[in-house]
Amino acid sequence: MIAPIYAASPARYDSMSYRRCGKSGIQLPLLSLGLWHNFGSRKPFEDVKDMACHAFDHGICHFDLANNYGPEYGTAEENFGRLMDTVFRPYRDELLISSKAGYDMWPGPYGNWGSRKYLMASLDQSLKRMRLDYVDIFYSHRFDPATPIEETMQALVDIVRQGKALYVGISRYPKEEAAKAYEYLAGHDVPCLLYQDRYNILDRVPQDNGQVDLAYGKGVGFISFSPLQQGLLTGRYLDGIPSDSRMARNTSLKRETLTPELLDTLRSLNDIAARRGQSLAQMSLSWLLSDPRVTSVIIGASSVQQIDDNLKSLDNRYFSDEELNEIDSLSLNLNFAL
Ligand SMILES: NC(=O)c1ccc[n+]([C@@H]2O[C@H](COP(=O)([O-])OP(=O)(O)OC[C@H]3O[C@@H](n4cnc5c(N)ncnc54)[C@H](OP(=O)(O)O)[C@@H]3O)[C@@H](O)[C@H]2O)c1
Repeated sequence: MIAPIYAASPARYDSMSYRRCGKSGIQLPLLSLGLWHNFGSRKPFEDVKDMACHAFDHGICHFDLANNYGPEYGTAEENFGRLMDTVFRPYRDELLISSKAGYDMWPGPYGNWGSRKYLMASLDQSLKRMRLDYVDIFYSHRFDPATPIEETMQALVDIVRQGKALYVGISRYPKEEAAKAYEYLAGHDVPCLLYQDRYNILDRVPQDNGQVDLAYGKGVGFISFSPLQQGLLTGRYLDGIPSDSRMARNTSLKRETLTPELLDTLRSLNDIAARRGQSLAQMSLSWLLSDPRVTSVIIGASSVQQIDDNLKSLDNRYFSDEELNEIDSLSLNLNFAL
């Protein structure tokens, strides 16, 4: 008999905590894993597999994807399909897998934004790439000001009715449109499961503009993406720009972001983290998770070691008022462009 290539750790649920996602039956792990960078065709598949299996072995059972994650577009989903076939298929019912459509994916007028035509076709393509019959969550990736919101929302409703997604979510919608989306979806018996937005120590827009409260009040979960501001809120850039870092690639995280002012702030935040016995990455995740309105945070990672470092954020989620005030006084709220 051929031994299975991977058997998930029997202790996988022992150290992770799970939080109720709004008013739903779903609980999310406090840390989820996102496959935006580092899981596409430019990364060796063995590395992709090691990171995904390590995450699952530690209770991270929510994997966040989108049609265009890679790089190259589509290749994070293709690699996830390989993961399904090589390691994860026996665990399908333990996994919460999301995908999205809303940004640029293929040329022409039907490969972007929020039309029914795009969302339906894109999800069919995603399912093929990921070798899945259904996703657990399908998101409208961004609000489309040119498409009636009813068309986008009805597409989400119909996707659930077709059995291609169990739940739906929205990502980075303006507040007023998010409120309309929640109302439409609830009115069609497909309540919005999750609102996804960037929220971290350096970027508090969803807190300041009321999106976090709106989701909470409507019984919708809130999931934070780029909780480490793409790596800025870690030790990665305190002593220069490592050649294997996201900033060195200068794509979504630009070198010019790292101003002397920001570097000073990061060093001061790092000092607070050290006093708490944490790495800067751990403190940044703990800070988000100390807010009970945040259901989960979606971390990115380029190595197993980073996932391990981040998992330790669960150990110390208490902040004194002095620590919170000190962090607040340092934070720049830089309102980063993506
Ligand atoms: N809905 C949306 O519009 C949207 C937009 C963006 C992201 N997302 C989702 O959110 C997920 C996470 O986004 P993100 O990758 O920007 O998250 P992030 O957690 O803010 O940044 C991840 C990067 O930080 C660095 N890092 C992580 N842990 C570290 C540690 N312990 N020590 C040192 N460096 C560490 C790594 O950078 P290096 O690669 O340099 O090592 C890693 O790639 C995405 O994968 C995606 O699923 C959604």
